[in-house]
Amino acid sequence: MSYSDLLSDLTGLLDGECDPIANAANTAAVIWQYLPDINWAGFYFLKRQQLVLGPFQGKPACVRIPMGAGVCGAAAASRHTIVVRDVHEFPGHIACDSASNSEIVIPLIRNRRVIGVLDIDSPRIGRFTEPDRAGCEAIAALYLKSLAG
Ligand code: SME
Repeated sequence: MSYSDLLSDLTGLLDGECDPIANAANTAAVIWQYLPDINWAGFYFLKRQQLVLGPFQGKPACVRIPMGAGVCGAAAASRHTIVVRDVHEFPGHIACDSASNSEIVIPLIRNRRVIGVLDIDSPRIGRFTEPDRAGCEAIAALYLKSLAG
């Protein structure tokens, strides 16, 4: 798996389209297709101070996460990517799928506002490394760029 292949595929898929739901759906599908050892990949969008489930791949997930709650809420509130080696050690982690053992959450910031998060879960402890952080932040950046049309 190479992030450069993933990113070039995604660039093609998002090209000429700015619909936020369609592009989130294809972004989640590309992540699911390329990244090994993951059990969930998808979006939450911020609506009235809650993160609301968006397009994803994997098992059905919690629909609403309050700002600040869980890994997703913490990433949105801090406006920084959070990589969690072992979710069972993260205070307040929200377990949507008991198979998840590690997680990366990237906040989506548009015009200086948090509009949501990109969340990827893995059954493998310590799945997400520094290259994954850079790769997943680049995925989020491509998604955000696509919204501008
Ligand atoms: N584990 C997340 C909740 C979202 S699901 O994993 C899809 C969290 O603690 O924010």
